Amino acid sequence: MWSKKICFPLPLDHWLLLLLLLHLILVGLVSVQGNDQKKFYIVYLGDDHAVNEDSEAAQTHMHILSSVKESYVEAKESMVYSYTKSFNAFAAKLSSDEAERLLGMDEVLSVLPNRYHKLHTTKSWDFIGLPLKARRNLKLERDVIVGLFDTGITPESKSFKGDGFGPPPAKWKGTCGHFANFSGCNNKIIGATYFKLDGNPDPADILSPIDVDGHGTHTSSTLAGNQVPNASLFGLAMGTARGAVPSARVAMYKVCWSSSGCTDMDILAAYDAAIHDGVDVISISIGGGGGNYVRDSIAIGAFHAMKKGIITVASAGNDGPSLGSVVNHAPWFVTVAASGIDRQFISKVHLGNGKDLSGIGVNTFNPKKNLYPLVSGVDVARNSQTKESARFCVQDSLDPNKVKGKLVFCKLENWGSDSVVKGIGGVGTIIEDDQFLDAAQIFMAPGTMVNDTIGEIIDEYIHSTRSPSAVIYKSHEAKKRAPFIASFSSRGPNPGSERILKPDIAAPGVDILASYTLRKSLTGSEGDTQYSEFTIMSGTSMACPHVAGVAAYVKSFHPHWSPAAIRSAILTTAKPMSQRVNSDAEFSYGVGQVNPNKAVNPGLVYDMDGTLSYIQFLCHEGYKGSSLAPLVGSKSVNCSSLLPGQGYDALNYPTMQLSLKSSKQPTVGVFRRTVTNVGPAKSTYNATIRAPKGVEIIVKPMSLSFSTTLEKRTFQVVVKANPMPSMRMISGSLGWKSSRYTVRSPIVIHSP
Ligand SMILES: *[C@@H]1O[C@H](CO)[C@@H](O)[C@H](O)[C@H]1NC(C)=O
Ligand SMILES: *[C@@H]1O[C@H](CO)[C@@H](O)[C@H](O)[C@H]1NC(C)=O
Ligand SMILES: *[C@@H]1O[C@H](CO)[C@@H](O)[C@H](O)[C@H]1NC(C)=O
Ligand SMILES: *[C@@H]1O[C@H](CO)[C@@H](O)[C@H](O)[C@H]1NC(C)=O
Ligand SMILES: *[C@@H]1O[C@H](CO)[C@@H](O)[C@H](O)[C@H]1NC(C)=O
Repeated sequence: MWSKKICFPLPLDHWLLLLLLLHLILVGLVSVQGNDQKKFYIVYLGDDHAVNEDSEAAQTHMHILSSVKESYVEAKESMVYSYTKSFNAFAAKLSSDEAERLLGMDEVLSVLPNRYHKLHTTKSWDFIGLPLKARRNLKLERDVIVGLFDTGITPESKSFKGDGFGPPPAKWKGTCGHFANFSGCNNKIIGATYFKLDGNPDPADILSPIDVDGHGTHTSSTLAGNQVPNASLFGLAMGTARGAVPSARVAMYKVCWSSSGCTDMDILAAYDAAIHDGVDVISISIGGGGGNYVRDSIAIGAFHAMKKGIITVASAGNDGPSLGSVVNHAPWFVTVAASGIDRQFISKVHLGNGKDLSGIGVNTFNPKKNLYPLVSGVDVARNSQTKESARFCVQDSLDPNKVKGKLVFCKLENWGSDSVVKGIGGVGTIIEDDQFLDAAQIFMAPGTMVNDTIGEIIDEYIHSTRSPSAVIYKSHEAKKRAPFIASFSSRGPNPGSERILKPDIAAPGVDILASYTLRKSLTGSEGDTQYSEFTIMSGTSMACPHVAGVAAYVKSFHPHWSPAAIRSAILTTAKPMSQRVNSDAEFSYGVGQVNPNKAVNPGLVYDMDGTLSYIQFLCHEGYKGSSLAPLVGSKSVNCSSLLPGQGYDALNYPTMQLSLKSSKQPTVGVFRRTVTNVGPAKSTYNATIRAPKGVEIIVKPMSLSFSTTLEKRTFQVVVKANPMPSMRMISGSLGWKSSRYTVRSPIVIHSP
């Protein structure tokens, strides 16, 4: 998510729709003038054509582009960007005919349209077991560089002060300049840059790495912010704010813009730079494309990062609880779901009849009176035409004369009804909704959110008395049972591959306190006068930097581990979550809740030789060799000439997922796995199998013995599952147990 208004699916969709309409109108205006409609495309070229000199590569790009344009001048005008540092591609404005002709050229591997994407703490680190005084390898942690692709950063924030840091690590090749409203970097923020390649001005933003939205500041400080004592949101969530790796360095690549979102072109430019600059971990809290891995720029970029040994952690999306809604689901990502911690923000409502009701939300206002008159939006409509929208307190639907000085009861359609009510002189808003009660919304005037049951009580009360009245109290913190997966967190099954479990893992993403910008009010709504250096946000966007932070933490102990080894360490040590509390089970939480402390010492890892393993996997999944071009950077992947990937899923993944093939006969899957000993040289692990009803799981061999570190052992897991009705999912697990470690892999069986 970014701000409150756009952190959840509902308002975001509306907001996008508006943009889309605007876009259609603009595009419409252009095409009326009779132009062949030109759009942005990304043109992928082979790595074999790559040249070492940036300028030479850029010239080649111009040359290729010129061949489909009338003139060199026209080509120059339509060239947008040359990606030359970490892979070979360019972005340009093309007609669909030109795009097609480029695709026909020998040097060109793929031509993809540029798409627009949406963006999808103190306490949370203690909650998942990374206390303030956690064991650290400070010397190495100072050399870890985390890269974020986000809305920018706030260099004035206490979370990013450079005091006490030495110069950037020697491996750092990135840059940081002075930009508008951006005071420049220090030894904490060592890189800051921005990409806005479509050239369209964004009136709500500044062409600079400065964060005017707050999202990027929030995610960066969650990942690697300094320790800041006494952080709070007006006294709420008080504690010491900090990132997972407070000594690590931050590089911000601003690719998301307040009103235009985040585009493929900009995201790829950020990958091109970040891979070259020398970041160790990339954190992306942006919605990816679903489905096809070779057409999604976020996945393509992450593949190039993986090839260079950089792990990419991404958010699973905020489109839950619908099944199959997970994004960023390629197996070379770590895909992160959002869980709730054991704290919630309650703002109570007291009715004139003496009844006390409980609502959710961050309301920082103390009431000035004991009671205020209370009305229902639908009863104070501006006129009979606006009655239906008045029920939802939509802008211009309410009669200001009937709202002035009163509390208004509204149903939720769009965020911001608190701003509407305040704007016409109302005192505050009680919002009824059943869907979004997991996470606290911040209100710009007295406000709270209640569920349908309580909404009904309020509605009945309003219509049962002559002069209904109520008051909303300032929020307080309350305990809550946790962890649970947030309803908004996107769910599996993986729409990209039925043999890979996604999301991978869960991390706190509900009501997370972290740094914010003073350039924007807390809600961003009109009339909001609340500003704070810290704020509370919710979304898988907030969960993602928690896991990216743990990846950086693991990296600070094991600087030479591969992305696959780091991911394996994080996944196999996670804390199992409850299937009873979370009915979508593994499809909602993957392996469970991230456990930083254990991830540093996993015992065994499922490692992979990155590129080849994934290519074998993709061939196994049925991708045509030619379609893999943008990933591998060459035209000639011949799937049938490769050694086939082994076993059911052809990947040494730390989880297993079997998809049932028949409604009559049992389905059998044989998973082949290799583990590498990263624990004590001499160790023995025994298999512990948990099989659900109707499923037989056999592990061969049942015991693995190691005598040296980095020794590898292979085994196979045979899963035989009886038919199930469609859309069902059950799960078991395999745990390798030694006297010191448990290396756990969920085994998921589902019927599509
Ligand atoms: C950016 O800087 C300009 C000039 O110094 C200033 O007028 C403007 O208010 C600043 N904008 C923000 C959002 O800080
Ligand atoms: C934090 O707040 C407490 C209580 O308000 C105060 O005693 C303490 O000095 C503060 N610490 C810092 C570092 O500001
Ligand atoms: C509504 O909220 C109240 C108070 O938190 C709770 O007791 C009740 O079970 C909730 N009702 C539903 C349908 O969730
Ligand atoms: C791919 O490899 C197979 C096996 O090595 C070979 O028979 C086939 O001709 C190759 N195809 C192409 C297009 O090179
Ligand atoms: C593994 O199993 C063997 C044989 O059952 C047993 O002797 C050994 O103690 C077990 N090791 C562990 C670590 O559980």
